[in-house]
Amino acid sequence: MQRLLMFTLLASSLLWTVCTGADWCYQSQFTCDHQCNAPEKWSHANGNCAGTRQSPINVVTRKTVKDERLTPFKFSNYQEIFRGTIKNNGHSVQVTVPDHRTISGGGLPDSYKAVQFHFHWGINGGPGSEHTIDGEQYPMEVHIVHMKSHYTDLKRALADEEGVAVLGFFYEASNSGNRKYDPLINALRSIKTPNANTTLVSGISLAQLIPSEQNMTNYYRYKGSLTTPDCSQAVIWTLFENPIPLSTDQLQAFAELKFHDGKPMVDTFRPVQPLNGRQVYRSGSAVILASAVLLVAAMATALGLSQPN
Ligand SMILES: *[C@@H]1O[C@H](CO)[C@@H](O)[C@H](O)[C@H]1NC(C)=O
Ligand SMILES: *[C@@H]1O[C@H](CO)[C@@H](O)[C@H](O)[C@H]1NC(C)=O
Ligand SMILES: [Zn+2]
Repeated sequence: MQRLLMFTLLASSLLWTVCTGADWCYQSQFTCDHQCNAPEKWSHANGNCAGTRQSPINVVTRKTVKDERLTPFKFSNYQEIFRGTIKNNGHSVQVTVPDHRTISGGGLPDSYKAVQFHFHWGINGGPGSEHTIDGEQYPMEVHIVHMKSHYTDLKRALADEEGVAVLGFFYEASNSGNRKYDPLINALRSIKTPNANTTLVSGISLAQLIPSEQNMTNYYRYKGSLTTPDCSQAVIWTLFENPIPLSTDQLQAFAELKFHDGKPMVDTFRPVQPLNGRQVYRSGSAVILASAVLLVAAMATALGLSQPN
C-alpha cells in the first residue's frame, strides 16, 4: 500500500515536471516534434494564468479614463551607472538591476525599486510587443520590473496584489541607430544560447534606455499580471505612450538569440488577454492627439476663425 502510494507520488511529480513544469513556451516554439505548453495551456501549469486580471491587454484609447492622480513619476538613481549581468534565460534577455533605483509618484501607492528588465520582440522588427494600443503591435517592448521597496525578494512581492510595478515602453523602427543601446545590443552576441550570461563591462544606466522625463508624462495604467508563468496577479502596469527609437539592425540583433532547441528566439510575446471589465486609465496630461486636433478644428469652425474672408 505504502509502496503504491510512493509510486503514485513519484509518477505524478514526474508527470508534473515533464508536462506542466518549467516547460512553458511561446507559440513560436510549438511544433509537432516539440509539444511544449504554448500560451493557451499555461493555465495547466499554473491556475493564475487563467485568472481574470491577466496581462498583456489591448488598450482601446477611446475607452481610457483620464485620472488626474496619474502625475509624472519621480525617478531616483535612474542615472546611476551599473555593471549589470545580462542573461539569455531561455525565454528572453534579462538584465539584473542592483538595489536603490526607485520610482514613486505616478499614482503608485508606494515607492518601488527596480529589480530587472527584459524584452519581448517579434521577427526581425515585425510585430513583437506584448501590449497593443488600439490594436497596434509595436516591434518590441521592454519591461522594467519593480517591487515595493521594503521587500527583499520578488516572490514576497508577488503575493501582494500591488507588490510589483512594471514600467513598459514600446519601440519604433527609426532610420538611425540609438547609440545609447550599443552596450546592451553588443552584449547580445555573447549570450546567444540559453543560460549564457555576461557582464555589461562598460556599464549602463536605466535612464539611458528610456525617454527623457518630459517625454514620460503620457501613460496608461491598469492592474494586471506577470505575462509569463506563474502569471501572478500582482502588477500595477504603466505603459508609456512615447516609443523608444531603434534602428532595424538593432531590433534584428535580438533575433540572433536562440531558444533551448537552437531555433531563433523570436515572437517572445503572450497574446493579449481579456479585460474582464477592468478600467484602463490615462495620465492627467495625456491627450489623445487626434481628438484634440479635431476639437480645436471644431472650435475654430464654430468661432468662424476658419472662414476665409
Ligand atoms: C553565468 O554563467 C556562468 C557560466 O558561464 C555560471 O557559472 C553562472 O552561474 C551564470 N550566472 C548567472 C547569474 O546565471
Ligand atoms: C520627445 O519625443 C519627441 C517625439 O518622440 C522627440 O522628437 C524629442 O526629441 C523627445 N524629447 C526629448 C528631450 O527626448
Ligand atoms: Zn515582460
